Amino acid sequence: MPKLIHLQTVQSPNGNLTVFEKLLQGGIKRVFYIYNTKKEVRGRHRHRYSRHALTCVAGKCKVYVNNGKHEEIFELDSPEKCLILEPEDWREMYDFDEKTILLCISNQYYDPDDYIKEPYQDNIEKSINYTFT
Ligand code: TYD
Repeated sequence: MPKLIHLQTVQSPNGNLTVFEKLLQGGIKRVFYIYNTKKEVRGRHRHRYSRHALTCVAGKCKVYVNNGKHEEIFELDSPEKCLILEPEDWREMYDFDEKTILLCISNQYYDPDDYIKEPYQDNIEKSINYTFT
């Protein structure tokens, strides 16, 4: 099941500091980020092994998630919001704005064999429709 969490944030007159610590089962092995996106949909896959944590450190995006039983759309519109995805969570990231930087933290090294690109059956007919802003 996907889990949206609020990251610990220390605020001061000099600015904010947000912490990602001890939140990803398996630890952190890889960090990548997605930016310069247009009106595109990214993702469209699930994984065999990887757990991911997604945060928009700048800008915003939406994430459609389907684990084969439930589907839900999450809005990542704050650097304090973090979406933890399990391997079985099919994800589609969309509705980026021009300043979005989507930080992705993984508990696995990159491995093309870790990707499952076959959607669940009910992905084909989504009950939730995308809304682009
Ligand atoms: P992909 O995971 O398909 O991106 P998204 O899900 O955001 O659409 O990766 C896009 C390309 O980048 C693909 O050719 C594989 C490559 N890539 C790496 O080389 N290393 C990585 O850690 C990741 C995530 C992708």
